[in-house]
Amino acid sequence: MTLAITKTTSTAVPAVVGADLRVPLVTGERVTYANLDHAASAPCLQEVRDAVDELLPWYASVHRGAGFASQVSTRVYEQARDRIRKFVGAHASDTVVFTRNTTDSLNLLARSVPRGTAVVLFDSEHHAALLPWRGPNVQRIPAPSSSGAAVVALDRALAAAPVGPRLVIVTGASNVTGELWPVAELAKVARRHGARIALDAAQLAPHRPLNVRELGVDYVAFSGHKIYAPFGAGVLVGRADWLQQAQPYLVGGGATAKVTDHGDRLGVAWSAVPERHEAGSPNVVGVHALAAACEILSRHWEQTVAHEQELLTRLRDGLRTVPGFRELSILTDADKVGVVSFTISGFDAGFLAAALSAEYGIGVRDGAFCAHVIVGRLVKAGAHEDRAVRASIGLGTTAEHVDRLVAALRTLVTEGPKWTYTQRDGRWVPEDDSRTLPPFLA
Ligand SMILES: Cc1ncc(COP(=O)(O)O)c(C=O)c1O
Repeated sequence: MTLAITKTTSTAVPAVVGADLRVPLVTGERVTYANLDHAASAPCLQEVRDAVDELLPWYASVHRGAGFASQVSTRVYEQARDRIRKFVGAHASDTVVFTRNTTDSLNLLARSVPRGTAVVLFDSEHHAALLPWRGPNVQRIPAPSSSGAAVVALDRALAAAPVGPRLVIVTGASNVTGELWPVAELAKVARRHGARIALDAAQLAPHRPLNVRELGVDYVAFSGHKIYAPFGAGVLVGRADWLQQAQPYLVGGGATAKVTDHGDRLGVAWSAVPERHEAGSPNVVGVHALAAACEILSRHWEQTVAHEQELLTRLRDGLRTVPGFRELSILTDADKVGVVSFTISGFDAGFLAAALSAEYGIGVRDGAFCAHVIVGRLVKAGAHEDRAVRASIGLGTTAEHVDRLVAALRTLVTEGPKWTYTQRDGRWVPEDDSRTLPPFLA
């Protein structure tokens, strides 16, 4: 009773749904969408959609039904834990808790650490990793400028941390710069100081193989929608003890072994992990999609990394020819996944993003990318606006998308826009925008 995903022998990168999507321009033309916003949410893989289609007829309640379809859905849900475990190289004793996304996973971890745990992190983290940890026990290390400096800074911070449980939070790849953090080295330092380490792999998991045993990390969190499985599931994998001792993050059905009525109060025996932290009806479609995406990527790492690195080089080389271009960087010596954030002197990031969409059919992200602290610092360092543009590459990206972005920016900078834009509610929008929404929204 397994739902095996179709295996391919192709050497091409896995195909995404929507690769031929046509979008309207303000001029009335239609063009193929150039999605350069994979770091925000990646398109669904075709094979993930196939896996979901395969499951849907069998879709039924998980853990709750005697019916055959319920048993199938329950099996799919529980098998997904093993598939994820394999993807991250988890220890046999690690627990796999399904969540909504990385934010949910990291908030769960934050609520599960023993009281008084000293937490150490870099202030360049995404808000999902930064905000759950606030208060007197948290040390925020100013973002270092190199991988070596990161290791030294963590060593110093941990040497100064109070005695007791300690936890380091680190990202695998920055969502601002795409730079890869020296996770294995940081984990060694953490271990030397008796600290645990949690890896925010939201941006790493879609781009590079990840093995918690090789990296030496205790926890890893990532999101389905960033790894080509946009069906609302995420995951936290790691050591079970703190999670087992913690009060459930959400309370309700599924998290309880037994509830008893004592008149003036309810007695509750909570389930063991992972169900303890999975109250409510589980998202079996989401976790099946997530597990399928993990397996598909695992079979294509070589092609995926080569595809992305080739396009990344093309993108950076092209962007360097745009007058006024400046790329944001934290760890100046680090390798990158396909994420480039930049400013263009004299141009507001929001305006550029609006014009790229309206006139060229290109999707990029603008703003501070849920990392206000570091983006504010990096952007201000060059005395530009306090927002940036981010172009991010993934399996749906083609050389034409990259070339179109570079050419569009060069034209916008040297000749200006061909349309008129205005600011509405703090966002740049084209005036007289007659682009129509797809029929299913009409
Ligand atoms: C590095 C990083 N961590 C965490 C998150 C949060 O992920 P999610 O929004 O899926 O919870 C993101 C999302 O952009 C991210 O890039």
